[in-house]
Amino acid sequence: MSYNKELHDKIENIDLNSEAPIEEPQRQYYYIKKAKSYITALSQKLGRPLTHKVVNFGCQMNARDAEKLEGILEEIGYVKGEDEDSDFVIFNTCTVRENANTKVYGRLGRLKPLKKKNSNMMIGLCGCMMQEENVVEKLRQSYSYVDLIFGTHNVYKLAELIVNRLESKSSVIDIWEDTNNIVEDLPSERKYSFKSGVNIMFGCNNFCSYCIVPYVRGRERSRKSKDIIKEIQALVADGVVEVMLLGQNVNSYGKNLEEPMSFAQLLQEIEKIDGLKRIRFMTSHPKDLSDELIAVMKNSKKICKHLHLPVQAGSNQILKKMNRKYTKEGYLELVSKLKAAIPDLSLTTDIIVGFPEETEEDFEETMDIVKKVRYDSAFTFIYSKRTGTPAAALPDQVSQDVVKNRFDRLLKEVQKISAEVTKIHEGKVMEVLVEDVNQQDPTLMTGRLSNNLLVHFKGNQDLIGELINVKLTECKGFYYAGEIV
Ligand code: 5AD
Ligand code: SF4
Repeated sequence: MSYNKELHDKIENIDLNSEAPIEEPQRQYYYIKKAKSYITALSQKLGRPLTHKVVNFGCQMNARDAEKLEGILEEIGYVKGEDEDSDFVIFNTCTVRENANTKVYGRLGRLKPLKKKNSNMMIGLCGCMMQEENVVEKLRQSYSYVDLIFGTHNVYKLAELIVNRLESKSSVIDIWEDTNNIVEDLPSERKYSFKSGVNIMFGCNNFCSYCIVPYVRGRERSRKSKDIIKEIQALVADGVVEVMLLGQNVNSYGKNLEEPMSFAQLLQEIEKIDGLKRIRFMTSHPKDLSDELIAVMKNSKKICKHLHLPVQAGSNQILKKMNRKYTKEGYLELVSKLKAAIPDLSLTTDIIVGFPEETEEDFEETMDIVKKVRYDSAFTFIYSKRTGTPAAALPDQVSQDVVKNRFDRLLKEVQKISAEVTKIHEGKVMEVLVEDVNQQDPTLMTGRLSNNLLVHFKGNQDLIGELINVKLTECKGFYYAGEIV
């Protein structure tokens, strides 16, 4: 029986004539069923199904939350809509950099005329941006047509909030500052049948000085290993072969559990799950990456040969001001250890350019570490000032011209190295997980290597979700052209 079917039955068995239970997740099962009765009645009145559209911004953590929102909406009786003229539109927002916020206001403005045309339309906003007081205030004042506003801690309450909205006839705003709650066993609608993200922890305790995440996602809390294992087993039974374990800082997994457990120990438990073929995880903070984890990665048959290890900067002064708690030398030593233990490990990173008070010499240190590590790829970001973070109060913000110039130089270097590193595997036969039909050329399929690179090759759709061997015939810079062998 699939995970969703079992859950569906539990929801169906709820008695709507009694009071809403206090306990979770039963309380949400009650509200899902109740919302469903409203949506079914409305759909019958209109003579058509009601549609939903979940628009996701930001990271993999948000993408997983979006799947949970979709799971609840589908259980309520909405069907997936194509675009933003759907009956229920929700933006799952990101606020890690300022431009993420700007995008949301633009898209939100375009929903207003759609809502005027469709009196049954509901608009929701949730996610990281909603955890900022000034955002909610602005929405209250200038975007009163928004029906639901909630944050990062109560995504699981979507059905209850929808019922509140339908019964109260006025907007519902429910933002929590933080939580210790982790509600298990709710529906989720996976984007891919064969792979899935799995949250292993929520929140972050690191307080890197530029970063807003600890303020909007709250304190670190880990899921119990037995809940994680149970979820992965159910996913595997439902066709999943690859999981991506998600957390802001997976290397500190388990520290706050009643029975503490390390991330390396958790990985060993997950490795034992029959039928699971590939394990990925992100994000790793360099300061917490243990020798135990390196040994587990080295000996594992399932953990992919890819590690995302954000460096952020190469200068020790800047790393200190960023509160990263490692030095350039310490990071390089860690990389040496990793490469010695796992020679074919692909390393990727995040880098911020233009942190306050960054001098040319500091920037040269970043260029230097990039040249020494030789990343397979790197996400480069221009520093964005986030109100409320310690870095926002630093006096010397670097001028835009200087930042732009450094950013371009860095990007050029990163891309040059990346193309060189990628080429190393040209001609080899490697295992790929077939993920999709190629968007530009439907005769091609796209597969992902263990090291996270993509390869395009002739094949048919039946291969989606399969692990097959492909020869990497030609390196095209950041991806390969290949053929099935
Ligand atoms: N400005 C620019 N980049 C940032 N990141 C986090 N906060 C900021 C900020 N204020 C980047 C970091 C992090 C990635 C997810 O986003 O590099 O690793
Ligand atoms: Fe932000 Fe640092 Fe936490 Fe990552 S580890 S989410 S950069 S505070």
